[in-house]
Amino acid sequence: MNPYESNLLHVLHVAAALVLMGQTFYAFAAPPETRRKVLIWAGGASLVMLLTGVRLWQMVFGFAPAGWLIVKIVCWLGLSALAGIAYRRRELAGVLTWVAMILAVTAVAMVYVKPF
Ligand code: HEM
Repeated sequence: MNPYESNLLHVLHVAAALVLMGQTFYAFAAPPETRRKVLIWAGGASLVMLLTGVRLWQMVFGFAPAGWLIVKIVCWLGLSALAGIAYRRRELAGVLTWVAMILAVTAVAMVYVKPF
């Protein structure tokens, strides 16, 4: 495993997670005219997360199937959808904030605890 690539992938993966979370929370309260820009940033970050995540999975685990990874992918899917939903369903902002926090914390717990 190339340590430079490994470090770069880990940093990009976590940086993209931070950008996705930031844009998602902004979407909960942002004015409607920001929709396009926010969705472009959130979508880009989401794609970077998936690509770096898959490459990490290959590099660190040789694509070995794992329950924690499936949970992470479900969390990623949910988080990636939230910004788009937030612009259409303003009245749900409060509950979506909780959903976003729970999904993000679950994904982070999975990668560090790897319970299954
Ligand atoms: C909500 C979405 C996600 C969050 C918040 C998240 C967060 C993280 C964090 C914090 C790390 C640890 C980085 C480190 O220790 O340096 C990590 C590593 C990793 N993530 Fe994600 N991730 C998410 C989605 C994904 C997805 C969709 C995949 C796979 C397709 C994935 C695959 C991995 C892999 C394979 C690692 C390396 C684990 C290791 O080195 O032990 N992640 N992720």
